[in-house]
Amino acid sequence: MTLSVLPAAGTISFARGVPSPDMFPLERLAECARQAVLDHGRVALNYGAPAGYEPLREWIAARHGVAASQVLVTPGSLIGLNLVVRTLCAGRSAAVEAPTYDRMLHALADANAAVLTVPRSGAGLDLDRLATLASGADRPALLYVLPTFHNPTGTTLDLEQRRALVAIAIEHDLTVFEDDPYGLVRIDGTPQPYLHDLFREQGRPDLAIFASSFSKSVAPGLRAGYLVLPPGLVAQLTEAASRLYVSPPLLPQAQLHAFLAAGDLEPHLTTLAAFLKPRRDALLAALEGLPPDATWTRPEGGYFLWLELPGGLDGEALAERAVAVGVTFSAGAGFFAAEPRRATARLAFSYPSVAEIEAGAARLVNLIRDCIVDRGEAR
Ligand SMILES: Cc1ncc(COP(=O)(O)O)c(C=O)c1O
Repeated sequence: MTLSVLPAAGTISFARGVPSPDMFPLERLAECARQAVLDHGRVALNYGAPAGYEPLREWIAARHGVAASQVLVTPGSLIGLNLVVRTLCAGRSAAVEAPTYDRMLHALADANAAVLTVPRSGAGLDLDRLATLASGADRPALLYVLPTFHNPTGTTLDLEQRRALVAIAIEHDLTVFEDDPYGLVRIDGTPQPYLHDLFREQGRPDLAIFASSFSKSVAPGLRAGYLVLPPGLVAQLTEAASRLYVSPPLLPQAQLHAFLAAGDLEPHLTTLAAFLKPRRDALLAALEGLPPDATWTRPEGGYFLWLELPGGLDGEALAERAVAVGVTFSAGAGFFAAEPRRATARLAFSYPSVAEIEAGAARLVNLIRDCIVDRGEAR
């Protein structure tokens, strides 16, 4: 059976932010599954608290230096994101980056929330625009931001930008929802502090909501994401979770906890970095074959890079033509709430092998060159 997230045979996919199955620590997860059932099954196979498996909440809380009561472990972080949106943004407005994670745009549309945008580029976030929005009459309910290995661009906000963003939010009492599913998947470079930590440093942790996930760093099939909430939001969000799914599946949470508590995460992250580095580097090297007006980001981690197509080529039209040469990718337009930059594309390097990346990127580069030649001849 072929799952819809997987590319058709022969097609090389740069489309979805899916890990390669070769990234899963299968042996250890098998042992942890056994341990979860045999040692903890009486709890983990039952209904439980809506906020998740207590030992996992405690592990996450210790990592973030917060109380376990502030941690809501959700069945994937997308559910957590939707809970935040439904609770805080329904019928109001939210500010998002342009471009941003497309499923956040869907969540906001489902909640009838108006969307305001703050441009995000290689240079970072447009902080002047953020300050204008935050001080305006129709101030958004929150700012949704992906500071590290941003989906879709792969870029990371530097410390100066992070501090400036936090200062603006504090000045205008703006809640900031930081989504960080990729931050632990670092290939190189220096880690930056979470916005959540900077808010705490400034004495305003009440303005910070943090979301992360073990989907990208361990395995998405565990469906384990989490929110770190300000104490004032815990009751409301926990109630929303309880209404939606009673309690999350505790068994994978117990399995994950066994993995984390044994100290397996850090060595696994080192393995992931070594796995992803040649893939990212192969893609970056192949893109050097593009015409000189193409530009692309050079992510220090995560799963994606962002391509500004040469000659103003339309990303959606290119994606359609790419299928015929056996390559898929995500056109950039879908990551914008409004006024899409159409000559853009998101390329994921997490799923294909190095050889597939080389072959797929060569197909894509050739196709782009052909499109530019075709267009010149049509003129
Ligand atoms: C930015 C971002 N947030 C949240 C998610 C949701 O991840 P999950 O529900 O698997 O934890 C993803 C997955 O692609 C993502 O890219």
